[in-house]
Amino acid sequence: MLSPVMQDALNKQLNAEFGSSYLYLSMAAWLENQNLSGMAHWMRLQADEEWDHAMRIFDFIHDRDGRVVLSTIETPLAEWSSVIDVFEASLAHEQKITGQINELVDLALQEKDHAANAFLQWFVSEQVEEEATVKSIVDKLKLAGENGVALFMLDTELGRRTESPNETP
Ligand code: FEO
Repeated sequence: MLSPVMQDALNKQLNAEFGSSYLYLSMAAWLENQNLSGMAHWMRLQADEEWDHAMRIFDFIHDRDGRVVLSTIETPLAEWSSVIDVFEASLAHEQKITGQINELVDLALQEKDHAANAFLQWFVSEQVEEEATVKSIVDKLKLAGENGVALFMLDTELGRRTESPNETP
């Protein structure tokens, strides 16, 4: 059984993961409008992955005989100044989420909720991967600079993503 404080915190994170999904979908739409369909595709899969994160929490709350309470999803940004601005915003967003996950782990330890702690360890590892992946794209975009050919190649590379790299059955 989840403590009320743990349940509230998990519901808050559930909302944050849906918020991430919505933000990345908004980024995908912006990239699509820039005719960067490979990057848009990559970001769309990123949105799917965030939905998966939310549903993991959804299932965990139920497995612990808790109550899922959905709340309003924040309206995401719709405009960015450049492609690198999009991916830098994505990296900053992931760093913020990492902080939230760390706070959840702190709470689980404080509540002596070992099951929640074990569950959250998957998210701890996931955040390391997510930050590293987005950081590598930001680095490549910096290298590409104003070079249209390099940008086109990166768009093609990101368009090859077939599934979320961290998705587990
Ligand atoms: Fe669910 Fe990208 O963190």
